[in-house]
Amino acid sequence: MAARGGDAASASSAGAWSLRHLHLSLRVAFAGAGAGRLRGSARLELVRAPGGGGAEGDEEERVLRLDTHRSVTVLGAALLPPHGDPGHGDPPPAALQPLPVRTEPFASFGQALLITVPRGEQRLSLHIDYEAGEGPGVCWLAPEQTAGKQKPFMYTQGQAVLNRSFFPCFDTPSVKCTYSATVKVPEGFVAVMSATSWEKKEDNTFVFKMSQPIPSYLIALAVGDIVAADVGPRSRVWAEPCLIEAAKKEYDGVIEEFLAVGEKLFGPYVWGRYDILFMPPSFPFGGMENPCLTFVTPCLLAGDRSLADVIIHEISHSWFGNLVTNASWGEFWLNEGFTMYAQRRISTEVYGLAYTCLEAATGRALLRQHMDNTGEDHPLNKLRVVIEPGINPEDTYNETPYEKGFCFVSYLAHLVGDQSKFDAFLQAYVNRFKFQSITADDALGFFLEYFPELKEKGVDSIPGFEFSRWLDTPGWPPFLPDLSPGDALMKPAEELALLWAADGLDMEAIEGVDITAWRTYQLVYFLDQVLQKSPLPQGNVERLSKMYPKISRSQNAELRLRWCQIILRNDLEAEYSKVKDFLQSQGKQKYTLPLYRAMWAGSEAARALAMETFSATAPQLHVNVQNYVKKILGLEVAEA
Ligand code: BES
Ligand code: ZN
Repeated sequence: MAARGGDAASASSAGAWSLRHLHLSLRVAFAGAGAGRLRGSARLELVRAPGGGGAEGDEEERVLRLDTHRSVTVLGAALLPPHGDPGHGDPPPAALQPLPVRTEPFASFGQALLITVPRGEQRLSLHIDYEAGEGPGVCWLAPEQTAGKQKPFMYTQGQAVLNRSFFPCFDTPSVKCTYSATVKVPEGFVAVMSATSWEKKEDNTFVFKMSQPIPSYLIALAVGDIVAADVGPRSRVWAEPCLIEAAKKEYDGVIEEFLAVGEKLFGPYVWGRYDILFMPPSFPFGGMENPCLTFVTPCLLAGDRSLADVIIHEISHSWFGNLVTNASWGEFWLNEGFTMYAQRRISTEVYGLAYTCLEAATGRALLRQHMDNTGEDHPLNKLRVVIEPGINPEDTYNETPYEKGFCFVSYLAHLVGDQSKFDAFLQAYVNRFKFQSITADDALGFFLEYFPELKEKGVDSIPGFEFSRWLDTPGWPPFLPDLSPGDALMKPAEELALLWAADGLDMEAIEGVDITAWRTYQLVYFLDQVLQKSPLPQGNVERLSKMYPKISRSQNAELRLRWCQIILRNDLEAEYSKVKDFLQSQGKQKYTLPLYRAMWAGSEAARALAMETFSATAPQLHVNVQNYVKKILGLEVAEA
């Protein structure tokens, strides 16, 4: 499909071509100490786009531009014979017609690969020999960085613009294609990919096929000592052998319900399987919605399914993001805002409205914290972000597309005024734009077309709530969905936080509140309230810590994050080691950065803790996360 929407983060000439299929043929070789190499080829099946090329037509006709990265070595490019072997094997070298290639600088996060192609040819089958492995999209972990500590592990992470260091491509979400891959791994390893089919062949070779068109950022590979266990009719969990029992226990029998509710609400699940891969602890995200195979942090193994909202979120991307995709990273709220809304619709059906409102309130608290940190007027606090040439889309990542996006979609639902009508709209929206990449204008245009009576009323220009204001003006959302159905769960937590923030502690009242039956998100909500009121009067946090070992000694990552934030805001030196332990145990960006920010904003001792923790853990963090921490600590950052 041709590029739409203009993507300043891609160096490619995607608009001049239509990419029909991509085939990767790779060998994976681990080297020592968290390093390794990918060797092989990428084959792109291309057709010239009608009228593609525009003003620079002549140049664009001769030169195909792809995204690549300085860590990728292109050994050569060649044309396959027009009616060549349609199979997916490597072509015999004699069939290749070599083509001139060169690179051009583009940005800190990528280069352009220029390939001179014959004029006039309508269809091209392009073969590129290359090596890769040292870029930010391809992560190599030493055995000590895995759960089992015996064998190395590798994985790729494409979103947002990292897959150009994995293979040369049109690295823009505006382009979708099917793909296939053959991946040869060392003896004793298993390869998995975001693909509709997986097959193990002889010789440690795995063969994959993705039969639906997807954008480049959703192509993902992981190789390690991993095994699988079924958890549902179309779902299995993948994990290292020492984690597989825990992984199965966490999600056995629940995934299917999430999928079934998703299908009921948003239409058919088109991806065949829905599997989950538990990553090593340094994985920088809670979850990544690689189609057919979500990658998740092992922190989700809480033992009580309390963090399943992440799985519901990634499942929701099966419709919003993976089927209907943002055309550029400046429209990221279309992926994440719609997904937050879909996640909470599924959650409401499965867990009820009260619990879902409680979870949404913790999301709102994150948005509040983010806007307090940046100032409401920060240009990233609008839904439609202008990503100028040279700006790395990763650097624009924040809570706004998620939680302000959620508020905007909730506002659209509020305008409609009837949940089942809005659900039907979402289903029609997915159906209208599936397998396409769209902009906010496409989405909102369709909304008004679907509800002509609302269009007639001019709901897009109600003063203070103009759609253009939502999209282009930074600031706190003009509309907040009503979360009061969660009051029965939130009020007791708010009241308890007030008691703990008082000058003279009313221990009788405090002891009268029994938190033993509270759900994880109720405790999270309570801790967020305590954090907001911190620093507490002298001595209160110590007592709180002793009173609730269930919180202060919890192994649940969401609770640990909040408890560490409270330790730092109250400068509780006696518990500093918990901050270091937590940061050593996992490398999720959304846990790591807030804690380093808090340490850096704290006392001399807190700053020393930051430095000490970073020097102990830096090598195990994802390189992007490492660089963001360095920025917080005022250390020099090497080029990403
Ligand atoms: N797609 C995102 C993760 C992502 C975003 C990776 C931007 C790279 C660049 C994923 O769906 C996500 O949002 N994960 C959240 C889950 C949460 C909102 C429930 C996470 O990792 O915390
Ligand atoms: Zn998401």
